[in-house]
Amino acid sequence: MNPRDLSAHTEYVAGRGIEEVARELGTDPAELIKLASNENAFGPSPKAVAAIREHAENVSSYPKTSHTDLTERLADRWNVTAEQIWLAAGGDGALDYLSRAILSPGDDVLVPRPGFAYYAMSARYHHGEVTEYTLSADTGFEQSVDGILSAYDGERIVYITSPHNPTGSVCPVDAVEQIAAGTDEQTLVVVDEAYGEFADVDSAIGLVRERDDVAIIRTFSKAYGLAGLRLGYAVTPESWADAYARINTPFAAGELSCRAGLAALDDDEHVETTVSTVRWAREYMADHVDAPSWKSQGNFVLFAVGDATTVAEQLKERGVIVRDCTSFGLEECIRVTCGTEEETERAVTAINEVLNAL
Ligand SMILES: Cc1ncc(COP(=O)(O)O)c(C=O)c1O
Repeated sequence: MNPRDLSAHTEYVAGRGIEEVARELGTDPAELIKLASNENAFGPSPKAVAAIREHAENVSSYPKTSHTDLTERLADRWNVTAEQIWLAAGGDGALDYLSRAILSPGDDVLVPRPGFAYYAMSARYHHGEVTEYTLSADTGFEQSVDGILSAYDGERIVYITSPHNPTGSVCPVDAVEQIAAGTDEQTLVVVDEAYGEFADVDSAIGLVRERDDVAIIRTFSKAYGLAGLRLGYAVTPESWADAYARINTPFAAGELSCRAGLAALDDDEHVETTVSTVRWAREYMADHVDAPSWKSQGNFVLFAVGDATTVAEQLKERGVIVRDCTSFGLEECIRVTCGTEEETERAVTAINEVLNAL
């Protein structure tokens, strides 16, 4: 027997891990810096690490209380009801829950190109079809109301990423509102705010309180440094939020993830250090790298370097792992995650050495 027809499905290409690259180069992982997956340069919130240690003994039980506590805590934070918070295994898991709740077989979703690959993957897993709207380098990869609405053709979900991966552009709340108003009643506008903590624009969660056709994705992977735990959530409209109870995997987030998430939400110092260093690093990189870049509101910067694969390979030889954006359809671009001050300065020096030697 065979699986169903998966020929339209693509594999997710993740940034490579330090250990993997160290093995390939035959070097000590400590010699390498990884700026390829938009992770937190400061590691996890120390309070989250302490909570994981403290609650490790509890993992023989299902995470009923911690799941409820984290849901309520997030509901308080965003001024929504607990039903509106859909905890999941990362932002990716939250995207899957929205697909499960919204898509019937054959429904279309509209996704940005370039853009985050998982929107299309999730739609296909749920028997959906994918159409794309194009973001152009010439307009700074702007996610404009006109651009999105002119590509829109009645799709069931429209994805907006703010800040956008891999370009760093944002879509302000008033633009999201115009897009939601310009689409059919039965179209959901999903605003993916995985990098929301790093942006200067407001979250679009306010719109979820006012409308029944906007949902938001948030994650603990970036600003809170908990990517390895797989914890994220969707904030969904009140009128249909009870769908979660019908579609979620039982205990959608694990005990240690929920405990760590609760602790991380109280760790202001870790988030502040992370966000202020990211803001410094993206300016520093844009000012000092000898290549054009686009203004980014995420924890990364996209640079036009010519042959991205060659540049990324040569940087790897110098111990700096960045993201070759060929898989995003941007063969001329690399995406560099903001590091600590020391890592960022080292990356800038290495990038300039490589570019100047080409
Ligand atoms: C735009 C965007 N959305 C969502 C995610 C998913 O993150 P996670 O599943 O780790 O929460 C990522 C991860 O890099 C991302 O770049």
